[in-house]
Amino acid sequence: MRVLVTGGAGFIGSHIVTALAAEGHEPLVLDALLPAAHPRTPEIPAGAAFRHGDVRDAEEVRAALRGVDAVCHQAAMVGLGSGVHDAPAYVSCNDLGTAVLLAGMAEAGVRRLLLAGSMVVYGEGRYECAEHGTVRPGPRRAVDLDAGRFEPPCPRCGAPLLPGLVAEDAPTDPRNVYAATKLAQEHLAGSWARATGGRAVALRYHNVYGPGMPRDTPYAGVASFFRSALARGEAPRVYEDGRQRRDFVHVTDAAAANVAALAALDGRPAGACTPYNIGSGSPRTVGELAAALASAAGGPSPVTTGEYRLGDVRHITADSAAARRDLAWTPQVAFAAGVTEFATARLREPAAG
Ligand SMILES: NC(=O)c1ccc[n+]([C@@H]2O[C@H](COP(=O)([O-])OP(=O)(O)OC[C@H]3O[C@@H](n4cnc5c(N)ncnc54)[C@H](O)[C@@H]3O)[C@@H](O)[C@H]2O)c1
Ligand SMILES: [Zn+2]
Repeated sequence: MRVLVTGGAGFIGSHIVTALAAEGHEPLVLDALLPAAHPRTPEIPAGAAFRHGDVRDAEEVRAALRGVDAVCHQAAMVGLGSGVHDAPAYVSCNDLGTAVLLAGMAEAGVRRLLLAGSMVVYGEGRYECAEHGTVRPGPRRAVDLDAGRFEPPCPRCGAPLLPGLVAEDAPTDPRNVYAATKLAQEHLAGSWARATGGRAVALRYHNVYGPGMPRDTPYAGVASFFRSALARGEAPRVYEDGRQRRDFVHVTDAAAANVAALAALDGRPAGACTPYNIGSGSPRTVGELAAALASAAGGPSPVTTGEYRLGDVRHITADSAAARRDLAWTPQVAFAAGVTEFATARLREPAAG
């Protein structure tokens, strides 16, 4: 199929382009090369045509969609951002951009959409209270975090909770601007699907890491912070007590999930955007990640600082059974192998200034 990959010059998008081409598809990249993501012109993977353009530009989108069978929408401003002042930029890029793209697809008769979703739509993950079963803790309070009380207590009785795996039917609870824009993208895709009879899946990536990850900026992931510190000969600085749980999924597995979803898409319900968790299935703590990277890089051991970021959730780990079942996708890269490779892998250079 001829597949338009928006954001195809980015970290995950470029791996998707490579994976699509390897499967005999014809990827076409539309990317605005945002300065925050690209300090210098990136290499576009071999085998892909490239258009330098913005998904908010209806004319660009119309031209890019010519002859296209499916769209893989990765373009977005990513990361936690720096609070509310950049909210207009996030909403513009992520939600206005998605709306313009979807309107163009409706007009061009393109009915297949793969959307880059995110685990951030869930907020805090799934927790069990011995007394109250599955509960949903509210946002953590600065006063608790300052006192080193990182674990969210049961909202009903205050007892300690057991973290579990979050499935796609968990209620959504976006806790920052970026998360709100990622959830809105899914709602927009659902509206497009209902109006056009199109098919969409939202692949809710968990923590994606691997070669080509951007260096540490406010927009990068934790694996990149650790990796960049080690590259400077410094100890990775681990926030909270290091016991916060995440699902680290390798970028080639995230790319393979897109290829698998494209193959399975015509068998998914028409008129809906179906979400899937894309995680490795083996939860790890952030402290474990730091230790594994430090050891593989032969660098200084991590330090646990007790610092925190107010927008962060404590635990969020994926139940990816639905993607394995419906998309016939199985992650291939085990944590130890992926982290060992990543410890010395190439990173994308930081933006100048
Ligand atoms: N990296 C992760 O762990 C992770 C986790 C969950 C979800 N995601 C999602 O995956 C997608 C890809 O993220 P990434 O980590 O590869 O980020 P990235 O910044 O490396 O790539 C995003 C690309 O989109 C382009 N872009 C941004 N806005 C655009 C616009 N308006 N028009 C055209 N191009 C635009 C950028 O130039 C960049 O090349 C995003 O949608 C992100 O929300 C990533
Ligand atoms: Zn309770």
